[in-house]
Amino acid sequence: MTTMTTIVPVGYGRRMAEYMTGFGNEFATEAVAGVLPEGRNSPQRVAHGLYAEQLSGTPFTAPRSENQRSWLYRLRPTAARGAYAPHEQGLWRSGPFTDADPNRLRWDPQPMPDAPTDWVQGTKTLAGSGDPAAGTGIAAHVYQANRSMEDSVFYDADGELLFVPQAGTVRLVTEMGVLDVPPGHIGVVPRGVHFRVELPDGPASGYVCENYGELFRLPDLGPIGSNGLANPRDFETPVAAFEDVERPTRVIQKYCGRLWSTTLGHSPLDVVAWHGNLAPYRYDLSRFNTIGTVSFDHPDPSIFTVLTSPTAVRGTANCDFVIFPPRWMVGEDTFRPPWFHRNLMSELMGLVHGVYDAKAGGFAPGGVSLHNCMSGHGPDRKTFEAASDADLRPEKIDGTMAFMFESRWPFALTEWAREVATLQTDYDACWGGFEKATLPG
Ligand SMILES: [Fe+2]
Repeated sequence: MTTMTTIVPVGYGRRMAEYMTGFGNEFATEAVAGVLPEGRNSPQRVAHGLYAEQLSGTPFTAPRSENQRSWLYRLRPTAARGAYAPHEQGLWRSGPFTDADPNRLRWDPQPMPDAPTDWVQGTKTLAGSGDPAAGTGIAAHVYQANRSMEDSVFYDADGELLFVPQAGTVRLVTEMGVLDVPPGHIGVVPRGVHFRVELPDGPASGYVCENYGELFRLPDLGPIGSNGLANPRDFETPVAAFEDVERPTRVIQKYCGRLWSTTLGHSPLDVVAWHGNLAPYRYDLSRFNTIGTVSFDHPDPSIFTVLTSPTAVRGTANCDFVIFPPRWMVGEDTFRPPWFHRNLMSELMGLVHGVYDAKAGGFAPGGVSLHNCMSGHGPDRKTFEAASDADLRPEKIDGTMAFMFESRWPFALTEWAREVATLQTDYDACWGGFEKATLPG
């Protein structure tokens, strides 16, 4: 039997997603009025016989400023299930990753599969670092999917998932509500939250950062002040929405790198109300308040940080999620594109749409580039020559959205990434042919 609350289950018509605003708020939301207990979390009896369940994203004893947990009130407890068995692994891979490679690498966009493929089946791990069991590092995945998940849900016990859609909306139907995440937005699903990926626009491609480390948060702003970059009020968290579906539903989880599954007799997306500060969220990247020079020089790209996952070393990120959005370029006597550089931090880049200003060609929307620790890179020759000769009038870089998963830990490759046909074999050539500088005399 299926009944409808805030949402209409898959296949039954349009589902409206509704949101609350703010980053990391103490949210409180109920799809049925009067369900949330008042003044306590776990009363002796919850309204209508619902089950109270705490979902913790941090240790109980994490400092208050870091502590994230929510209380969920659901039709059945998550504990009521049978054993998990190994599930088809597909191309999901996890740390520890061992195939380190200092070379600069770039991949063309991955093709959409011909066979029916949902998001779990269509996810391929490209590279990563660290180890989910150690709570450090990240994995970078790409996905190409052409059908919605049906009668199956997924959760990741290894980390939170940051979706960066490149083509096609992903509708994240989570146990805490529904997020529509079209290209140009990002969506984050916390560790452990059950969700189903639906494709309301048809086939979808994109990128996912799986963060094994400290939870993503907004970066400190330092001298920028109290506003700027991604502003907290522009983050959106879904209102509670649940489905009361009594039919077999497969639950797939990722646990210490492996996929496992079990089958329930009902949908676990059955949370009628919840409150707390651990919740899925989305963000429209066009809301990013981009900061840049108004005098000279190209500032470090840390000014483009949307979210950061810190390490214990101050200022050293497990992962920075950085974007290169539309912006004005006005620097005087300045080489305006990204300069040549070698960094401690390793950089895995993707392109949602448009052209990235350091590369005149070869980096297509849906593609990936990887520049690991201390690997020299920067503008290709064509970009270097054009920017060196450019008339430095104010110029708007428009119609583009590149991004970077930047990490203190070098990325190692998966076997799939090394062998896939889209790996370019001539990437180094884009830095060929630079003429030697000529000293006087
Ligand atoms: Fe770089």
